[in-house]
Amino acid sequence: GAAELGPYRHYMQKEIFEQPRALADTLQDIEAITPELFGDKAYSVFKEIDNVLILACGTSYYAGLTARYWIESIASVPVNVEIASEYRYRTSVPNPRTLVVTISQSGETADTLSALKHARRLGMTHSLTICNVATSAMVRECELAFITRAGVEIGVASTKAFTTQLSALYLLALSLAQVKGKLSEEQEANSIKALRHLPVALQAVLALEPQIIAWAEEFAAKENALFLGRGLHYPIALEGALKLKEISYIHAEAYPAGELKHGPLALVTGKMPVVTVAPKDELLEKLKSNMQEVRARGGELYVFADGNSQIGSEDGVHVIRLPEHYGQLSPILHVVPLQLLAYHTACVRGTDVDKPRNLAKSVTVE
Ligand code: G6P
Repeated sequence: GAAELGPYRHYMQKEIFEQPRALADTLQDIEAITPELFGDKAYSVFKEIDNVLILACGTSYYAGLTARYWIESIASVPVNVEIASEYRYRTSVPNPRTLVVTISQSGETADTLSALKHARRLGMTHSLTICNVATSAMVRECELAFITRAGVEIGVASTKAFTTQLSALYLLALSLAQVKGKLSEEQEANSIKALRHLPVALQAVLALEPQIIAWAEEFAAKENALFLGRGLHYPIALEGALKLKEISYIHAEAYPAGELKHGPLALVTGKMPVVTVAPKDELLEKLKSNMQEVRARGGELYVFADGNSQIGSEDGVHVIRLPEHYGQLSPILHVVPLQLLAYHTACVRGTDVDKPRNLAKSVTVE
């Protein structure tokens, strides 16, 4: 009801603004990196496994794609990420030393539960879930669990569940690294410091809302949008495109920017807004040349830069700058303006934001 919504128009907006709290709650007890964060038996399981298989659907799948970058680069453990509904219907090659990781807000998604059981039948018995509902079927089915503390999520389009999943997956990368002897004490201390600062950093990103509303006014008149990102931020581009199509019904796709020339460049005209996730990282220079390719075809760029990106607004290039540069945790901050862009675009278009047509909050049938 209206009372619970407080100053917000929709649950989705409320949930976007709850993210600093949701992250603080999810990370509140964490004073050190230890496998026990994932359960009593986690140390022996992490010791035994030599690879990770992530299974999830929807937004949770994009959290998994982000986790692959973290786990491989921080823990040097190979990772596969599979869409749950595809994984269980293909013949794959099981490795018993796999840690099967399911990611699910609800813990009740039928495809993800079935994929987990399928993996088990193939002899992969070690499982961990990153889940937002402690009493869910997923938590019961898995050997290990990390419960995110996003709180009840009502908007069909997932927001605070996603950012808390990401924080848990980052902890997983660090914990695996520790057990595998790849985490120095200095890295551990720096990572905890960075995680603890997230709520404050997020608050500063949320303060960009008025600038994003101005962009949303322009987006509401579009029928298509392209989202670009590279590396760690490619999954964030995917999530931004998903949010926009789910609630505003604008057709949106995401590409890793290096793939532009292999297809989507043909779509770029003055009518095609190109949202670019452009924090300062080792791929930024390459991304800038991808942006030039878009400009040369008359495409309008809407760039989310960060404190270190050094990209300025010019003709056809609109820039919103996140105040800080956030290193490896940057995806958690960069997804927030994309959530707000989708939300406000949907508001301008007058769609049913919290209950978009044809979609359900949790899909418990195949
Ligand atoms: C539905 C929801 C999405 C969610 C997906 C996976 O499609 O609309 O927001 O990402 O299910 O749900 P889960 O609860 O498993 O994360």
